[in-house]
Amino acid sequence: MENFTAYNPTKLHFGKGVTDQLGETVLEYGKRVLLMYGKGSVQKNGIYTKIIQQLNSINAEITEFSGIKSNPLVDDVLEAAQLGKLNHIDVIVAVGGGSVIDSAKITALSIANGTDPWAIMKYKSKPTTTKPLIAVLTLAATGTEMNGAAVLQNHKTKEKIGYVSPLMYPNHSFLDPEFTYSVPKNYTAYGIADLIAHSLEAYFGDGDASLSDRFVEAIIKEAMEYGPLVLNDPENYEYRSKIMWAATAALNGLTSYGRKYGDWGVHDIGHNLSFLFDTPHGATLTIAYPAWLRLQKNRIPERITKLGNQLFGTNSADETITLLEKFFKSILCPVRLSDINIHNDKKDEIIDQMIKNQIDGMVHKFTDDDRKKIVELMF
Ligand code: NZQ
Ligand code: ZN
Repeated sequence: MENFTAYNPTKLHFGKGVTDQLGETVLEYGKRVLLMYGKGSVQKNGIYTKIIQQLNSINAEITEFSGIKSNPLVDDVLEAAQLGKLNHIDVIVAVGGGSVIDSAKITALSIANGTDPWAIMKYKSKPTTTKPLIAVLTLAATGTEMNGAAVLQNHKTKEKIGYVSPLMYPNHSFLDPEFTYSVPKNYTAYGIADLIAHSLEAYFGDGDASLSDRFVEAIIKEAMEYGPLVLNDPENYEYRSKIMWAATAALNGLTSYGRKYGDWGVHDIGHNLSFLFDTPHGATLTIAYPAWLRLQKNRIPERITKLGNQLFGTNSADETITLLEKFFKSILCPVRLSDINIHNDKKDEIIDQMIKNQIDGMVHKFTDDDRKKIVELMF
């Protein structure tokens, strides 16, 4: 087992009605609130009204920044930071999925340090402080509600990249499974895929951490059991809660203790696809994981088989990959680029971008030939 430091300062409030405490929690940090959300789902499903009632109950001065898109843009973060700065905000309340919360994390750093968001993302400026951040999660997927990571894309530099900092853990996160009832079927499935992928990135990381392996196996089993059930019964509180907690647990540190780091090569491939085609994050992973596993099956057959044995009771690496792919298909996720209407004419563009951005894993390193092979395996 590798040495590790367990650190997670986020106060997570989980369950029915937890946002009834939002107002008084915000007040701990001040009354000038930057309220950030996405493209309008929160208005349609009534969450916005609940949040505004909470903020009004403490007479908050609200500055709103909305319209954050899925696969969020650094340009929006820059604008949000300028607005927040202008209004001398005390605290950010981010209501949404990973895209909104990630944008809020970088906005908070940018305001507090007076630095450019992209310079932060590229580790060119070193933030020393941040603004308080309160997250209200509306989509179970990324784990951003309880971690120090954020992912943004930049059209000018043609990149979608992640940034990690201990300053970015939300101070509080509110997780009411009822808030996820309205998540459409496709995004519910992408969230299930994402949480499985996070568990796998840890599993294929570096270091012998048997307890963390067991956490990974348990989280994936939970997702495979309750994922299909929630898709058939989207307003079932128990199913939504199981998936919501599984998604948080998949990327809040639990699956990584005792390892040096996870691999994250599949996420790098996925971010590249999202950048090129604006593909939803989870959908890129269900295409990239089977291809990545096929590339690795003769390099790490024992590790893949161990996973397959725990998840499916098989002793074959090939069958493990087939069965994982079958699961992704069963929840209606794409497993080939052609499933999302990306055909052979795009192959060279994807390979070029993979090579240009040196898409890579942290443990299982790619050669340019591997990058080419992986793209071929995704078709
Ligand atoms: O924009 P609105 O109208 O809110 O609609 C969103 C969006 O269209 C909608 N939605 C969210 N909650 C809803 C809802 N619709 C109905 N009812 C609700 N309750 O769902 C769509 C997708 O939202 P988004 O936030 O983009 O999804 P997700 O949570 O999957 O976040 C994806 C982003 O997070 C990054 C991804 O790369 C991607 O950019 N990730 C962040 C990570 C992290 N910070 O730790 C790790 C992940 O691996 C991932 O990379
Ligand atoms: Zn992910």
